[in-house]
Amino acid sequence: MCGIVGYIGQRNATEILIEGLRKLEYRGYDSAGIALLNTNGVHVFKEKGRIAALEELLDETANGTIGIGHTRWATHGEPSRLNAHPHQSASERFTLVHNGVIENYEQLKKAELSDVDFVSETDTEVVVKLIEKKVQGGKSVEEAFRSTLEQLHGSYAIAMLDADNSDVIYVGKNKSPLLVGLGEGFNVVASDAMAMLQVTNQFVELMDQEIVLVTRDFCRIKKLDGTVVERKPFTAELDASDIEKGTYPNYMLKEIDEQPAVVRRIISEYRDEDGVIKVEDSVRQAIKEADRLYIIAAGTSYHAGLVGKQLFEHIAGIPTEVHIASEFSYNMPLVSKKPLFIFISQSGETADSRAVLVHVKKLGFKTLTVTNVPGSTLSREADHTLLLYAGPEIAVASTKAYTAQIAVLAITAADAAVERGLEVKMDLTQELSIVANAMQTLVDEKEKIEALATNYLQTTRNAFYIGRAVDYYVCLEAALKLKEISYVQAEGFAGGELKHGTIALIEKDTPVIAIATQSHVNGAIRSNVKEVVARGAKALIVSMEGLESEDDQLVLPEVNDLLTPLVSVIPLQLLAYYTALHRGCDVDKPRNLAKSVTVE
Ligand code: M6R
Repeated sequence: MCGIVGYIGQRNATEILIEGLRKLEYRGYDSAGIALLNTNGVHVFKEKGRIAALEELLDETANGTIGIGHTRWATHGEPSRLNAHPHQSASERFTLVHNGVIENYEQLKKAELSDVDFVSETDTEVVVKLIEKKVQGGKSVEEAFRSTLEQLHGSYAIAMLDADNSDVIYVGKNKSPLLVGLGEGFNVVASDAMAMLQVTNQFVELMDQEIVLVTRDFCRIKKLDGTVVERKPFTAELDASDIEKGTYPNYMLKEIDEQPAVVRRIISEYRDEDGVIKVEDSVRQAIKEADRLYIIAAGTSYHAGLVGKQLFEHIAGIPTEVHIASEFSYNMPLVSKKPLFIFISQSGETADSRAVLVHVKKLGFKTLTVTNVPGSTLSREADHTLLLYAGPEIAVASTKAYTAQIAVLAITAADAAVERGLEVKMDLTQELSIVANAMQTLVDEKEKIEALATNYLQTTRNAFYIGRAVDYYVCLEAALKLKEISYVQAEGFAGGELKHGTIALIEKDTPVIAIATQSHVNGAIRSNVKEVVARGAKALIVSMEGLESEDDQLVLPEVNDLLTPLVSVIPLQLLAYYTALHRGCDVDKPRNLAKSVTVE
């Protein structure tokens, strides 16, 4: 949440900062700002709304070879110009951008800054004002920066300009991601390498509680106690074209379309030289040693985790629990003797999941992260990582990461089954290839699905998704997708559960979308459909070849029973997409949301 950029070099920083912020807009987009330092001092431009609104403010004073920028997802104070970053100290000597949450900002305000006026409602302003106070008290800027960060509780990635020194950007990090990018005669700062790929692919990773003095020619990393840290840069493997929309109108549609290719890529990434798909030995060993798996995740990744439970239990016979990350920390269940904690996270940065990771590591438990982002916080901090190979997912609504997560969990479960000497009753390579083909058939049926969206969801206030067994888990994901991008009130229900209360909400023309891909519950889910139709619902049935009936609106190509979520979710993603599009919503950047949720 929130994106930070910085540039120090020879060129005018404005364009580089704005371009970087555009790439980071997925992290938050309720306001944006930049600050540039030139011979006339610091110039701050900030505005409520998208980067485009900020760009309209820029004039000839927007120049300087050193600058910082920020795109915000509000935590403290409403989205507004006043609360937008950068924030400045009283004398305007210091200008700062921040991503994260300072938990003790009110205490610091009372204890150290009771004589200082504040202009915003943010936690960030405390930081910049405290730094100035320390400098006025006689500390050097670096000492003031370090000692202020030492006092902060919570998460931060910070970049700061000093109007009296145009040769350095002060940078610090704790629990929020931040990288320094290296160039010839310039250096940059970014929350995500994507933002600065335009100028460099060489990055230095920062660890928690480190600061960096970034100048044009070098970056000096130090711990908060002042000890110098040496760290080699790495090359960001991202291809700049991976993060472009190409000919697509938005990222979500592009990412939905990429799913067959992602599944094929996963097959090839996890295939050994003998053509067997498997996970690396250390992960296999960790699963072998576990007596129970605990999947921890949030949102869409949690929904993938539910399918994962089904896969681990049915394919590998390993008892598996799935927990919402934000609940687990505060309501921890009794844990088995030898658990393995599996964190599923597209971004690898989700603060709720990280809180659990930190907690269970302290308890001495083993951890595995399944993520799309190599080098992300959850990947670095867990004992093991499995990558999704889905390519950057930029639309806020997760699509290809969900199917990639399920595919990787299926491979992991099948591998665990072999290790346990169980017979795996399918050739997973072949079954996943069938899945990829089925996905392709569905992404090629867009017109039909668009028509269904128009017919069923265009004008509705609410919608229900019903399914049984693994279809129920897909219903949860389908409902989340519709809610988050089209703002239609939608809920996913277990088919049998409706009659225990929720059926009271069904009235004439209420859309009820039923998923019927499981033979053992096909009769039961169809009875549930009849129950809602009898009460006026407009039913849309998505079934699978071999289980279809003449009333079904959409029949999916047949795939293995355990892998149906990979296929059934595709038309449901498209239904949400077209509903949002036709309602005039911003599909890629839905209101109130951000892609990477780095606050608890
Ligand atoms: O990066 P993560 O997978 O940890 O993110 C978890 C959720 O915030 C995320 O899946 C969210 O629910 C999606 N925007 C839903 O489309």
